Amino acid sequence: METVLVTGGAGFIGSHLVERLVAEGFAVRVLDDLSSGRVEHLAAVRGRIEFLEGDIRDGDDVRRAVAGCTRVFHLAAVVSVQKTVEDPLGSAAVNEMGSLSLLEAARAAGVRRVVFASSSAVYGDDPRLPKREDHAVRPRSPYAVQKLAAEHYLSVYEGLFGLSTASLRFFNVFGPRQDPSSPYSGVISIFLTRALADEAPLIYGDGGQTRDFIYVADVVEALLRASRSTEVGVFNVGTGREVDILTLWREIAALTGCGRSPRHLPPRPGDIRRSVAAIDEAAGRLGFVPQVPFEEGLSRTLAWYRRAPAGS
Ligand code: NAD
Ligand code: UD1
Repeated sequence: METVLVTGGAGFIGSHLVERLVAEGFAVRVLDDLSSGRVEHLAAVRGRIEFLEGDIRDGDDVRRAVAGCTRVFHLAAVVSVQKTVEDPLGSAAVNEMGSLSLLEAARAAGVRRVVFASSSAVYGDDPRLPKREDHAVRPRSPYAVQKLAAEHYLSVYEGLFGLSTASLRFFNVFGPRQDPSSPYSGVISIFLTRALADEAPLIYGDGGQTRDFIYVADVVEALLRASRSTEVGVFNVGTGREVDILTLWREIAALTGCGRSPRHLPPRPGDIRRSVAAIDEAAGRLGFVPQVPFEEGLSRTLAWYRRAPAGS
C-alpha cells in the first residue's frame, strides 16, 4: 500500500481529499496543527488514517510526516487573507518557510511528487480575463506573495533536485465543512448560513463583482490527477464560469426560500471586481474537467448546512 501525506488534512478541502484517498486505497497520513482544522472533519475515516498533530514549521514534525511517503499534498496554510495582513511575519513563517521546510524534508526522504494548494490570489487585480497561467502575477496581499513564493520554491526544487512538483491555483472553493464563522469566510458559506437563519445577506458594493466558484469534490479530483501526473508547473483549478454575487444570493434565496433583501455595504478595500479561470491547461495536461455544476454543488452544500449548522 502506497503511503501519502496530506498537510492540512483536517481542514475543509484537506478532509475531503483524505476521504477520497482512503476510498482509493491509499494509506493516508495527515499532518495538521488544528489551528483552523478540526479532527471531527475526519470522523468518517477515523481509525483508517494516521493522524499526526504537528506543525509544518517544526522540522522534526515534518521529517516524521514525510518518512516513507511517495507523494505529498501540501494544503496546510494560514488561509485567511486578512490574517496575513494583520500578521505578515507569523503567516510567512507558515506559508513560506513551512512550505520550504516541507520541500526540504520531501527531497531528503526521496518523495516522488509534491502537489501544492496555491491560490488565484496570485493574479491580483490584473483585469485580463479569463485568468491564464501565463499572465503576469500581481499579488496584492501577504497571502498572495506567500503562495507565489511557495510556487517558486516548488519549481526551484524541481530544477535543482528533480523533485516532481505541481502548484494548483484554486479559485473560490465551496462545499460542506467550509467554516462560515468569520466575515472573511467564503461568501457561499456565509450566505447559506444567513439564509437558513432567515437573515439578510451583507453585500459589499453593488454585488456585480464576480467569482469562479468550484465545488470541493472537483478540487479533490484535480489534486488526485495532479499527483498521478508527471506534468510540472502551475495549473488553474476553476470552472471557467463567472457568477456575480447578486446572482449567487438569488440562487441561494430561491433554494432556501429566504425572502430577505440584501443589505449593501461599501466595497471591501482591495476587492477584485472580476475573477474567472481559463481551464484549458488543467484540461489538456492533467485531464481535469470539473464535473459538478454550480447549482448541484450549491444544493449539496445547502443539504450539509441544514444538517450541521454553523460549520459544526
Ligand atoms: P482550512 O483552514 O480549512 O485548511 C487549512 C488546514 O491547515 C487546517 O486544517 C489547519 O489546521 C492547517 N494548518 C494551518 N497551519 C498549519 C501549520 N503551521 N502546521 C500544520 N497544519 C496547519 O482551509 P482550506 O480552505 O481547506 O484551504 C486548504 C488550502 O487551499 C490552503 O493552502 C489554502 O490557502 C488553499 N486555498 C483555498 C481556497 C478556498 O477557496 N478555500 C482558495 C485558494 C487556495
Ligand atoms: C477568496 C479566498 C481567498 C483566495 C481568493 C482567491 C475565501 C474565504 N477567500 O477571496 O483565500 O485567496 O479567493 O482565490 O475563500 N462578499 C460579500 N458578502 C459577504 C462575503 C463576501 O459581498 O458576506 C463578497 C466579497 O466582497 C467578494 C466576494 O463576495 O467580492 C467573494 O468573497 P470571498 O468569498 O471572501 O472570496 P475572495 O474575496 O474572492
